[in-house]
Amino acid sequence: MNRIFSGVQPTGNLHLGNYLGAIRNWVKLQPDYDCIFCIVDLHAITLPQDPVALKASTREVTAAYIAAGIDPERSIIFNQSAVPGHSELGWLLSCYAPIGWLNRMTQFKEKAGKQRDNAVLGLYAYPVLMAADILLYKATHVPVGEDQKQHLELARDIAGAFNRRYERDVFPLPEPQILGAAARVMSLRDGTKKMSKSDESDYSRINMTDDADTIAKKVQKAKTDAEPLPGTPDGLESRPEAANLLGIYSALSDLPLAEVCRTYEGKLFSAFKRDLSDLAVAKLGPIGRRMKELASDAGAIDAILRRGAERAQAIAGPVLREAQDVIGLLRP
Ligand code: TYM
Repeated sequence: MNRIFSGVQPTGNLHLGNYLGAIRNWVKLQPDYDCIFCIVDLHAITLPQDPVALKASTREVTAAYIAAGIDPERSIIFNQSAVPGHSELGWLLSCYAPIGWLNRMTQFKEKAGKQRDNAVLGLYAYPVLMAADILLYKATHVPVGEDQKQHLELARDIAGAFNRRYERDVFPLPEPQILGAAARVMSLRDGTKKMSKSDESDYSRINMTDDADTIAKKVQKAKTDAEPLPGTPDGLESRPEAANLLGIYSALSDLPLAEVCRTYEGKLFSAFKRDLSDLAVAKLGPIGRRMKELASDAGAIDAILRRGAERAQAIAGPVLREAQDVIGLLRP
């Protein structure tokens, strides 16, 4: 069976982009793949994290996976640092990743900002660790939001470089799965910026644990233009805010974007926003409440993570040994 690997960083509140761009798609893919879902805490520490908040966030992301519909019996859920092979394979792969490839990574440039010399090595090497995450399980498919596309191309390049170097198909080239109308959810305040955890404005994103009133307020305040809604997706070109809100509606309702456009043709945003807010509350409300319930039992969450790490280790161990052996690292 084909294998999926994907993950979310335990940094701050999970938002609608994480849900629609990633987690929700995992739930849909779960029956057809052997799935490994990771809470990537080693990636989180490439930027400064408060130690207490990092642990809490690791449990919260675990709760989000389960509340959204990932079954911890069927799929493996674990935190990255609990399986040492991620760091070990990360180092090995760094020896096959030319610096020129890493220099092209736009996310590093965004995150490092103008202070490039002060950015830590881990932030720069981040995509190599991400390649290791995937290749450590010989994953064939990786469902992510669009912002991870470049990192996945690098993971494929690194796998190819390793295989060519030893003239053996050690690692499959992982396929990105960037799915649906909400693979790139934009800020509610600015349709040209990605919805992100690091945006200073709370009104820019809907969090998975927001209550009904908060969701309604955020949708109400979302930036729009003054035109009525178009009847086809073509009419959304150069209307980024409208495109974003209709894309969110399409993803949440599981209706094609063209059908959503047809339904709201000629309507004003006020009417559409009321429906969008009701839909978002109906879909996210139960997940947010379940997340809070699950996260309140830290012992139960930790037990799920421990079991997940054991199952992950059972797959990762032999793959790491195979890579070491192919490279010629003696394990006396
Ligand atoms: P992270 O934690 O930034 O985001 C987790 C997932 O959410 C998706 N996402 C979005 N999708 C649509 N619209 C948005 N505005 C939006 N914001 C985030 C991301 O694309 C991602 O799928 N490097 C990864 C984590 C990672 C990983 C991996 C993923 C580490 N190792 C191996 C897959 C495989 C990241 O920082 O995701």
